[in-house]
Amino acid sequence: MLDNKRILLIVAGGIAAYKTPELVRLIGKAGGQARVILTRAGGQFVTPMTLASVSGDTVYDDLFSFTEESDMGHIQLSRDADLVVVAPATADLMAKMAAGLADDLASTALLATDKPVIIAPAMNVRMWEHPATQHNLKTLNARGIRCVGPEEGDMACGEYGMGRMAEPGDILVAIQSFFRTSDRLIGRRALVTSGPTHEAIDPVRYIANRSSGKQGHAIAAALAAMGAETTLVSGPTNQPDPAGVQVIRVQSARNMLDACENALPADIAVCAAAVADWRPADEASRKMKKEPGTAPAPMALDENPDILRTLGAAGNKRPGLLIGFAAETGAVVENAQKKRLSKGCDWILANDVSSQTGTFGGDDNTVHLVDKDGVENWPRLSKVAVAEKLADRIAMTLEASA
Ligand code: PMT
Repeated sequence: MLDNKRILLIVAGGIAAYKTPELVRLIGKAGGQARVILTRAGGQFVTPMTLASVSGDTVYDDLFSFTEESDMGHIQLSRDADLVVVAPATADLMAKMAAGLADDLASTALLATDKPVIIAPAMNVRMWEHPATQHNLKTLNARGIRCVGPEEGDMACGEYGMGRMAEPGDILVAIQSFFRTSDRLIGRRALVTSGPTHEAIDPVRYIANRSSGKQGHAIAAALAAMGAETTLVSGPTNQPDPAGVQVIRVQSARNMLDACENALPADIAVCAAAVADWRPADEASRKMKKEPGTAPAPMALDENPDILRTLGAAGNKRPGLLIGFAAETGAVVENAQKKRLSKGCDWILANDVSSQTGTFGGDDNTVHLVDKDGVENWPRLSKVAVAEKLADRIAMTLEASA
């Protein structure tokens, strides 16, 4: 049951909009309250009157309507909900969301909202497969926006393929499952590290690695989606900030350690960052010059602090559940088992980072969860799915020990 949960349903302009009165009806039947924003294009496929009749409420469609704005402004509309659902989510609206555009009531409410969002994409198969749409989808996923569907099947345009909107019943299941999981980590504080660190050689050069931050950011998004008050300490990456997460951006391992220590206490800490183990012993204050005919001077290195090990030895400030990653190129599980003990953490997620695996920078990951009781081999999953599975496992563990 949805227990009076308030759902802001944004109906965009696709043929699948004709299914949304049924979705509104199902939400009401399950005990929720649906309030509807209808885009101008959405109004070509379903009438405001139909949606108003099934929701028992005004249907909002105009950003510049004096009556609507004074009655329920776009900011209030977007905040006065427990969840925002976009169905159908057209290619156009997904692109606007990814780019942060706000030129009508729907896109403005989506930009203004601080609430979780589920999208149910629906479009022609070529539009769905277009690199632009797939790129936008990844951007939205990385921000913690969930996706239900699309499905494969015959399309209204006569083509066949992926792009049909999920059925209203399936969207309702996604909504219900969101509310079942969304409060499991409420009252818990989580700290996540992500991305590489940059260790300065001189003002223009640095030592770094290939971490993109995709895995760490997805973990922060998944923990926040379950209600944890989440701080993400990230090295330099191009990843967007996940929704509902406090993001602290740092450059070096030493900056990352300071930010992590300042974020304590935490119930959960996940160290997914690829922290540089060493840094140049002397950072030149001016750009180092190449002297013609002379060999480059050898570079002396100092060891960086180990953040995971420091958190593991933090006494009464040690996070209750401390999780590390092990990036290995051979004897993956054996090395991870040793690392778990030497770093004093509870779990280690071991992943193979040999170049042919594409783990660094890629969208998928194969991890092995190593704890004191043994090893659990997870199948190859998207990094978002790894993050959700890990968050679920964390919630189960904390629930069992409560
Ligand atoms: O960012 P992506 O492109 O998505 O790639 C994800 C990932 C491969 C970076 C990620 O899944 C991963 O494996 N992160 C850990 C990378 C790493 O540095 O592994 P390690 O085996 O060298 O370190 C072991 C653990 O100690 C890690 O939790 C690491 O964060 C931590 N560590 C290491 C060194 C250090 N100075 N401080 C640390 O906290």
